[in-house]
Amino acid sequence: MKIATVLGTRPEIIKMAPIIDEISKRDIDQIVLHTGQHYDKEMSDNFFKDLEIPVPDYNIHVGSGSHGKQTGLMMKGIEEVLVKEKPDIVLVQGDTNAVLAGALVASKLHIAVGHVEAGLRSFDMTMPEELNRRVADISSTMYFVPTEHSAINLIAEGFSHKNVFITGNTVVDACFRHLDIAKKRGFEEESLASLDIENMDNILTLTMHRAENVDIKERVTSIIDALKQLSDMNIIFPIHPRTKNTLKNFGLFDELDSLKHVHIIKPVGYLDFLLLTSKSKLILTDSGGLQEEAITLNVPVLTLRYNTERPETVAAGGNILVGSNKDVIVENANKILNDKKFFDKMSNALNPYGVGNSAKLIVDAIEDYYGKGLLKIKAPEDIMSSFTRKMMHVKENITVFDFENKENALIHMVFNGSEMIFPKDDLNLKEMMIVYDKQE
Ligand code: UD1
Ligand code: UDP
Repeated sequence: MKIATVLGTRPEIIKMAPIIDEISKRDIDQIVLHTGQHYDKEMSDNFFKDLEIPVPDYNIHVGSGSHGKQTGLMMKGIEEVLVKEKPDIVLVQGDTNAVLAGALVASKLHIAVGHVEAGLRSFDMTMPEELNRRVADISSTMYFVPTEHSAINLIAEGFSHKNVFITGNTVVDACFRHLDIAKKRGFEEESLASLDIENMDNILTLTMHRAENVDIKERVTSIIDALKQLSDMNIIFPIHPRTKNTLKNFGLFDELDSLKHVHIIKPVGYLDFLLLTSKSKLILTDSGGLQEEAITLNVPVLTLRYNTERPETVAAGGNILVGSNKDVIVENANKILNDKKFFDKMSNALNPYGVGNSAKLIVDAIEDYYGKGLLKIKAPEDIMSSFTRKMMHVKENITVFDFENKENALIHMVFNGSEMIFPKDDLNLKEMMIVYDKQE
């Protein structure tokens, strides 16, 4: 079997690293293709080093550009590699333009796509990421979803539960594996070592890069006004290149940089960043990955967005959405910092993203599918079928697996009277309402 991984940005490198590592331990061929969307050493190369994975086999160097241009160049480059390499499955991760390009190209070449971190939905169609992840899901064969919540998002859109695997998030694998290494090593980045973070109190780690925040002057100004008021904190801000550019263009960079309690530094490597966040009292971010890492590291997080595709973190009590509203940010930050009970409650929120074995579960599922011939995209003569969609209140003690076999059916949705439930094979359906397709 041959697995191709397409990645292009910092978070994809971090979240695919545990899978690349897991594949390399098994008797499986693999190639890694970097789109080159992120190209600064601090946004790309350093992560291959910190996460101890080999440099990619291909880099198609698309660089920065408009969405259309960037995605188009990626599609052309990815297609050339896939035609030559003929992998059995292409893995994409998350919601970037690399995911859109990789999933579209592979599926049009009739190569199976495995979408890692599938099923997330913010329902905010202004986000490029929401479009990317939805298109990737439509184009995929295997769905590696982090939680039951994201599994249900897919089921509600009509995807078959058979191809959905609840695996947790590989960010937990990366976090757990590298935090100890980071602790033993200490801060390596000079900007962090010279700030003497080890001996600093009240650390607040800040990251922001979402177009909908940093490209809109009013929103970014309001966030900066909130930072000015949080002067009891030592705010460490490893700045994303996009944000640095826009703050400079808006004429806001120097003002922010001049604040004594705000330390703007260049983006740091994964080990330094893990150490920094784990020593933080609070994280302020609009990053997707950081919302997940915060709850993994037991650090309260305020998310600088009005919606999130990670609602599990909010439901668990570890994350509060504060948007870019100055007063809401300051009020919530002060509550977390001054109310110990509240701080403890947020810090102790249960991590919904698993125990750090996601990469293993994902590669196990791929090997199983490959062994059963399920990675082959079906030809028209194999998908001719006719079925009727039905609804039923189940009265008997029967599992999903047994019901489907007995009735020659595929269960789509299961309701327990108040909420939807993911139809795992061993779920007992007694007293549930189900929607299913019955093969005629
Ligand atoms: C991209 C992803 C976003 C993800 C983020 C992770 C899309 C649509 N967006 O956003 O989902 O959360 O990566 O960080 O795929 N730049 C550099 N050096 C680099 C990379 C970028 O200077 O190595 C600058 C360029 O000016 C570029 C800008 O940052 O125009 C934005 O980069 P881009 O890759 O388009 O989007 P991100 O904001 O990084
Ligand atoms: N990160 C890092 N160094 C930094 C800032 C972030 O290693 O200076 C890591 C962070 O731990 C997380 C990932 O980058 O795993 C998040 O990337 P980003 O915020 O760019 O993208 P998103 O997750 O929003 O797609």
